[in-house]
Amino acid sequence: MKHADVIAKLNLEQKCALLSGDTVFTTRVYQKAGIPAITLSDGPNGVRKQAGAADHLGLNPSVPATCFPTAATVACSWDPALGEQIGQAMGEEAAAQEVAVLLGPGLNTKRSPLCGRNFEYFSEDPYLSGKMAASYVRGIQSNGISACPKHFAVNSQELRRMASDSVVDERTLRELYLTGFEIVVKEAKPKTIMSSYNLINGTYANENRHLLMDILRGEWGFDGAVVTDWGGSNDHAMGVQNGSTLEMPAPGGDAVRELMQAVQSGKITEADVDARLDELLTLVFDTHAAVQSHSRTFDADAHHALARRAAAESIVLLKNENDLLPLAEGAKVAVIGDFAQTPRYQGAGSSAVNSIKVDTFLDCLKESGLASVGFAPGFDRQGKPDAAKQAEAVALAQKAEVVLLCLGLDEIKESEGLDRGDMRLADNQIELLKAVQQANPNTVVVLSAGASLETPWLKHCRTLVYGALGGQAGAGAMLDVLTGKVNPSGKLAETWVNAYADTPAKDNFAGPGRMVQYREGLYVGYRYYQTAGVPVAFPFGYGLSYTSFAYSNLQAASNGVTLTVTNTGKRAGAEIVQLYVAKPGAEVFRPAQELKGFAKVQLQPGESKTVTIPLDDKAFRYWNTKTDSWEVEGGSYELRVGASSADIRLTAVVEVAGTGAPNPYAGKHLPHYTSGKVQSVPDDEWATLLGRPVQQGKVKIDRNMTLGELNHSRSPLGWLIWLVLTALLNASYKRGKPDLNVLFQYNMPLRALAKMISGAISMGMVDGIVMELQGFWIIGLVRVIIEAVKNLVLNAQLEQRLRNS
Ligand code: BGC
Repeated sequence: MKHADVIAKLNLEQKCALLSGDTVFTTRVYQKAGIPAITLSDGPNGVRKQAGAADHLGLNPSVPATCFPTAATVACSWDPALGEQIGQAMGEEAAAQEVAVLLGPGLNTKRSPLCGRNFEYFSEDPYLSGKMAASYVRGIQSNGISACPKHFAVNSQELRRMASDSVVDERTLRELYLTGFEIVVKEAKPKTIMSSYNLINGTYANENRHLLMDILRGEWGFDGAVVTDWGGSNDHAMGVQNGSTLEMPAPGGDAVRELMQAVQSGKITEADVDARLDELLTLVFDTHAAVQSHSRTFDADAHHALARRAAAESIVLLKNENDLLPLAEGAKVAVIGDFAQTPRYQGAGSSAVNSIKVDTFLDCLKESGLASVGFAPGFDRQGKPDAAKQAEAVALAQKAEVVLLCLGLDEIKESEGLDRGDMRLADNQIELLKAVQQANPNTVVVLSAGASLETPWLKHCRTLVYGALGGQAGAGAMLDVLTGKVNPSGKLAETWVNAYADTPAKDNFAGPGRMVQYREGLYVGYRYYQTAGVPVAFPFGYGLSYTSFAYSNLQAASNGVTLTVTNTGKRAGAEIVQLYVAKPGAEVFRPAQELKGFAKVQLQPGESKTVTIPLDDKAFRYWNTKTDSWEVEGGSYELRVGASSADIRLTAVVEVAGTGAPNPYAGKHLPHYTSGKVQSVPDDEWATLLGRPVQQGKVKIDRNMTLGELNHSRSPLGWLIWLVLTALLNASYKRGKPDLNVLFQYNMPLRALAKMISGAISMGMVDGIVMELQGFWIIGLVRVIIEAVKNLVLNAQLEQRLRNS
């Protein structure tokens, strides 16, 4: 232990108290023992430090900071060097604001395009996610503070996010949902990691020994602190025993007593507590010292410029018929669309930054060199049809050479706490597009959305530019691309499907009940579409440029490839070269091909460069459930080099020595998994893959019943709360603005009451509430009252004692 001397001076109560937060975003301070408090703050695309009233949903204002493009956006740059610069700048702002742990990046695998937090995550591919996230972590931690990659793990939906059980087979867990985290942990050494809210195969992530001890600490060598997601602790003692260091936010005295009793009763050992404390103290001492010695200022203009460059490098040109773009200097443009005056540039929830300044498209237009013929909002942002607005826009469109039509998803569509209901652009925006295109065929659609969309309307625009959620400087970046000041080089980090019905998890995503079955297994994103032969609108890795590139001279070996890339067009530009590994005729089933390397190369017109893409230990491996380890199937592999997953330009075959492990699936009947056609895997085949049958349980009235399930309770009080919450939720949908508080409560299990209200409610009180809901109205109520008094008295005594520490 590093801090045995400090730990030896603390009694059990003091030790246990340190393992949970003091306030929503701070740890406890012990003056006499020389242990300072540290501050943790969101988040993934900029610092959200709340100086006043703090909450974990981004409801109260925070200190102004630079809002960088969200992870989903920057992933399209495929540029870890850029990610590192963003991380460095965010870390600098965090340290300047005395934040010791920055809660990000988020790198959950995009299992379904409908996950409400996809805008916060990088990709459907774990390799790309891991590489980008590692770059952020390196950048953030270069300031001496800690990054906190999240949410570990298999947390790919918002519905019932604090109580859902992600049921996933071990191979899929390893290859798809953990590989990104493995890359981050091994390559960037984060000082903390955030455990996710959900259960994995029946055990909460935060108390999952397999995840936190065997894999994270054992296999990957993580020696930092595991921090719970806010309110994500279920059984604190089990968390501590199984590798979770710090419970957040501020569960109060009850969590301290819970831990002490667990030690005293022998449920866990004091050595478990000491081990976690040692991790926490390393974090506290290191990051506190870094914050203390850090400057309190940063160059906001330089960070704005970086945010603009990041957004520009991440923009993806999806369609550019007749080379409508770039626009010539002085081109007469009509700007249409509400997003041009009120940008959609970040998502809602805990990641929302109080931006230092926000550029708008209309403001930036003035400096773009384009000649504006006017602006019309064109549509109602919340989707109501508005004939007058549309008519005004059409009239304006007729006056211009080119229409810049700013469309996108509104605020309610993408938020923490809420999955999307569909992948559609609002009908009124599509109607507007059709009308405008009739009036002026030179229509450029500029799209703001943090996740992929269905694009049946594509034929109605000549050009489509995807700016994702570009951060506070995104508008200027978009104009840089439209005018050719920046040659677009972004490529999609997720597949855009033709229709939601084509997606692999559609029947098992955000369904009824707490159990979420990951039946599609390995076949997520392009891994599914390419293996099952499902056509898509825009493939993974796709993106156009104002120039063109030729690939030649591939030399391949099992440790990587070298090739020549030439800019064959007339403009300087950057190309993202992707390396996929395939094993046609593999004995152990696997996706048709998988991304295992990439490189971005800048080229002047006519210039050629040699590009090297190394392959690492993850290139050929698969998780073998028979040997319980990574194995390699021996034989020939195809190394495919392409401009996208569907545009392979060069291929080479290499021989790879195998590890000789037995095929774990030999003799098993898995036709859907061998063909990749996994949309409807039958129960028995799913059970064969998983190694056990699973059955969706009935709603139970226990500590983990969510408030959204209270209609299943046996108490009029429960029904009333459910009715009120449901009415509030529906009202917020109608308003078009997500009410994060209500959303959070709706998906919140009862036990979280004891975790989220600074100790005002104890677990004993929760148990009283559960009795109440089970129909024991009087006994339940009496228990709540007795436990409340007990909690009040014990908390006051505890805080009094801790103040002298
Ligand atoms: C989110 C985390 C966030 C935390 C603190 C939670 O609701 O899931 O991503 O870091 O709140 O704000």
